[in-house]
Amino acid sequence: MSHEPEPYRIKVIEPIRKTSPEERRRIIKEAGYNLFAVPSEDVFIDLLTDSGTSAMSDRQWAGLMVGDEAYAGSRNFFNLRDAVGRVMGFPFVIPTHQGRAAEHVLFSTLVKPGQVVPNNMHFDTTKAHVEHRGARAVNLAIDAVYDPVSHNPFKGDMDLDKLEAFLKTKVGPDGTARAEVPMVMVTVTCNSGGGQPVSLANLRGVRQVADRYGVPVFIDAARFAENAFFIKEREPGQQGRSIADIVKEMFSYADGCTMSAKKDALVNMGGFIAMRSEELYRLATVWAVLFEGFITYGGLAGRDLEAMARGLEEVLSEDYLRDRIGQVRYLGQQLLDAGVPIIEPIGGHAVYLDAKRFLPRIPQDRFPAQALTVELYIEGGVRGVEIGTVLEGSDPATGENIYPTLEMVRLAIPRRVYTSRHMDYVADVVKRVHARRDSVRGLKFTYEPPVLRHFTARFEPA
Ligand code: F0G
Repeated sequence: MSHEPEPYRIKVIEPIRKTSPEERRRIIKEAGYNLFAVPSEDVFIDLLTDSGTSAMSDRQWAGLMVGDEAYAGSRNFFNLRDAVGRVMGFPFVIPTHQGRAAEHVLFSTLVKPGQVVPNNMHFDTTKAHVEHRGARAVNLAIDAVYDPVSHNPFKGDMDLDKLEAFLKTKVGPDGTARAEVPMVMVTVTCNSGGGQPVSLANLRGVRQVADRYGVPVFIDAARFAENAFFIKEREPGQQGRSIADIVKEMFSYADGCTMSAKKDALVNMGGFIAMRSEELYRLATVWAVLFEGFITYGGLAGRDLEAMARGLEEVLSEDYLRDRIGQVRYLGQQLLDAGVPIIEPIGGHAVYLDAKRFLPRIPQDRFPAQALTVELYIEGGVRGVEIGTVLEGSDPATGENIYPTLEMVRLAIPRRVYTSRHMDYVADVVKRVHARRDSVRGLKFTYEPPVLRHFTARFEPA
């Protein structure tokens, strides 16, 4: 597979240190076999997340110097507002310190106890914030997303039949579903389903169904530009359009969005809510002041807002996106060629190892994906993240594990940070673990926290 050179020069570097396998065995044991407890200085290639880990451009760094750190109405806020308007078409913007803070403010404004929020697939913080409001989160993605080898080009799509059937049961006396369903959300790309894209046709369809039931549509926009690249590449009739044009159309089907700018706005910290309705904006500002600080800074400094404004337009570069998604594919294809089971097609921001097929002898109650993260670390100092039974959690009533269909290790690639030689190295590490897979043992808890257990749980070999 051809891989074009990176379309940038590297101006600043951060040295990284490779540890020995003996050191890593000691470190991971001390960390309770949980990669979240390993200091990043003891990680050689850190693929824990693509969030807040991007390298900023010279233009973004220069933007820090024009930060106007005013409490109210900094010039950088207006630059951000204008950039969001140009890129997404939304006139009203409330900055927040990250994506989940945007969820907190938006859901506090719109979601009430007893309501239900459908999404193609909720990210875990989104689900947690829906539940925090006393509402329920349901996932209505197409079935293909649960099949690790289905080659549907838009595996992140919402199942429009499921959505329609769902909304039909929620219609109230006013003839809409609005009293029970405050919004329909669409996550682009679908992170929890393997970084899979959502098509324009599907977004249009969601809008039409939601309109029939009088329900607003919001986009969880964390990886909107990567989603647009897939549309340009795969959706019939879209090849001649610019990414900017496709992005505009994507958002034209929504009433607003929540954004974790730590992904596709190429910054280390930041987020926002954007919307069309002035009335909703007014209502949301009340919560924004309470949770995030004044409505023109949202827990951030002016310089952060400036970097975000600049990143939001930079990410639309097709050269950048081709390199970005190409790098993820470059890693994924090496694994496929070596017979390593991964989620297909390869997604936008990460390669997801399929732990059920990688370690078929380890039952789900011995956490095969968690065990695989441990082995990748011991083998080569590579840090991925478990997206499987440990993350899914246990039933609060019975304490029993909830077993997800997909048991995965996500290798998320930070934007503009690693070179293709780093990817070659990661592929080698994964292949070496795959070659010795029959020797890998499962894990059991020595400490299981009651909520969000994946972050602080401790394990030992079973
Ligand atoms: N929505 C999606 C689709 C996400 O992937 C994330 C974060 C959020 C919302 C929340 O944003 O972290 O800025 O508060 N995803 C990170 C990840 C943590 O590693 O996938 P946040």
